[in-house]
Amino acid sequence: MNGRARLADRVAVVTGSAKGIGRAIATTLAQEGALVVAVDIDTEAGAATLAEIRNISPRSAFQRVDIADHAEVAALVERLVRQFGSIDILVNNAGVTRPIDFFDLKPEEVDWIVGVNIKGTFSMMQAVARVMREKREGRIVNISSIAGKGYRNTSNIAYATSKGALIAMTRIAAVQLGKYGITVNAVCPGITETELMAAWIESRAKEGRKLKHDLIKELVADSARFESIPLSTSPKLCSSSPPTRPETLRGSP
Ligand SMILES: NC(=O)c1ccc[n+]([C@@H]2O[C@H](COP(=O)([O-])OP(=O)(O)OC[C@H]3O[C@@H](n4cnc5c(N)ncnc54)[C@H](O)[C@@H]3O)[C@@H](O)[C@H]2O)c1
Repeated sequence: MNGRARLADRVAVVTGSAKGIGRAIATTLAQEGALVVAVDIDTEAGAATLAEIRNISPRSAFQRVDIADHAEVAALVERLVRQFGSIDILVNNAGVTRPIDFFDLKPEEVDWIVGVNIKGTFSMMQAVARVMREKREGRIVNISSIAGKGYRNTSNIAYATSKGALIAMTRIAAVQLGKYGITVNAVCPGITETELMAAWIESRAKEGRKLKHDLIKELVADSARFESIPLSTSPKLCSSSPPTRPETLRGSP
């Protein structure tokens, strides 16, 4: 197979790959020939993913790691280097959220989201980039979200904030790691029916007395409509308060 050769002999780490989008990414990379290391906190679902990817790429592995735990991440990367020699690809897919009203959001919940989505992703990127720097080659892909670009129907402001941070983190990391031959990119998926979104989709569908797949189509159409509004009349995503006077911006980074 043509694609198989493309990632042959490459070691790819995919976080949050026991389920959902991460599992699909792990499977796709295995189909391209990569040795895939699936990382997740869910051991049971992880075992099912491992069976699936090993079927395609027999040396693949599963590692139970909480990416929000910096020490666990460091130990994981050390183990992988010992076992496989290098890490060529990192997909930072693990992410958490739950639908919640602005006023009900508690600090512990913000900590949880920031801990996994921002700090966990950064820990993974930093630890793996150190390995990639040695080889002067590497590919890092961060899974952000349309929520990070200000998607209006987002169900948790802390989640949207964390995904916006990932976009900024990706841009800066791309600049700072480019000189070591490491590319850093982000993907911003739209609404995808996975466990993460199931409850939200279910409740929105119920509220609107709609079928789930009709609701998803409408949400996608709504995003397309929003993005089609001419710039001059669309709400300014970054200036909902009065614009800052130009002189106060001068000299800032
Ligand atoms: N589903 C969507 O509509 C959608 C849209 C845009 C972006 N995304 C993003 O795509 C990514 C995958 O989402 P999904 O819908 O497949 O979610 P999911 O809940 O189905 O899967 C997420 C996986 O991450 C794992 N995980 C959670 N916390 C972890 C931790 N601390 N350490 C390691 N693993 C952990 C979970 O166990 C789970 O297997 C997330 O980053 C999410 O924000 C999803």
